Amino acid sequence: MKRLVVLISGYGSNLQAILDACQRGELPAQVVAVISNKADAFGLQRAIDAGVPAIPLPFYKELHLDRAGYDEVLAEVIEPYQPDLIVCAGWMRILGPGFVRRFAGKIINLHPALPGMFPGMHSIEAAYQAFRRGEIQHTGVMVHYVDEGVDTGPVIATRDVPIYPTDTLKDLEQRIHQTEHELLVEAIASLIMRSS
Ligand code: GAR
Repeated sequence: MKRLVVLISGYGSNLQAILDACQRGELPAQVVAVISNKADAFGLQRAIDAGVPAIPLPFYKELHLDRAGYDEVLAEVIEPYQPDLIVCAGWMRILGPGFVRRFAGKIINLHPALPGMFPGMHSIEAAYQAFRRGEIQHTGVMVHYVDEGVDTGPVIATRDVPIYPTDTLKDLEQRIHQTEHELLVEAIASLIMRSS
């Protein structure tokens, strides 16, 4: 059984896809901890419901931590869980070089766009607008190893997602999320297969 630590910032639908796949036996893995940088993230409740340690780790300005300091605390919280993989599933904080080096080759990220396209936040909306301006014909989702950039690093898996002229933004969001739930589980499964 591989040990997964999942990092989230919000709703946690991708975390849920991982939890469900573990539960159904589709992933030979267990989620050993869920950490959120937002204390009110709904995903924390999903972890609690699944009986998994749910750890809020907000960034408190009052603690006078800089980015590297926060990463250090995050690493110290993660370390005892001895993860085989750290999965950023809707984690909206940049991980600095110290953290990335400490868990080299073990951190993966899901992003709702194709490699090199629309990094950062609001990527689905950016793709939707680009389609409407005629700049792209389709979009996609990817899972990649985390390096020191924003939504960059060696690609593990991608899947194209069509955009139709009749789509509302909500239609596209739903199609992207459904694709993400499948691709993330498949990507984790393929990494586990490769390493065992
Ligand atoms: C997902 O669409 C994920 O790809 C995106 O946040 C969403 C989280 O949804 N991540 C990024 O944009 C990373 N740059 P969820 O909380 O329902 O899993």
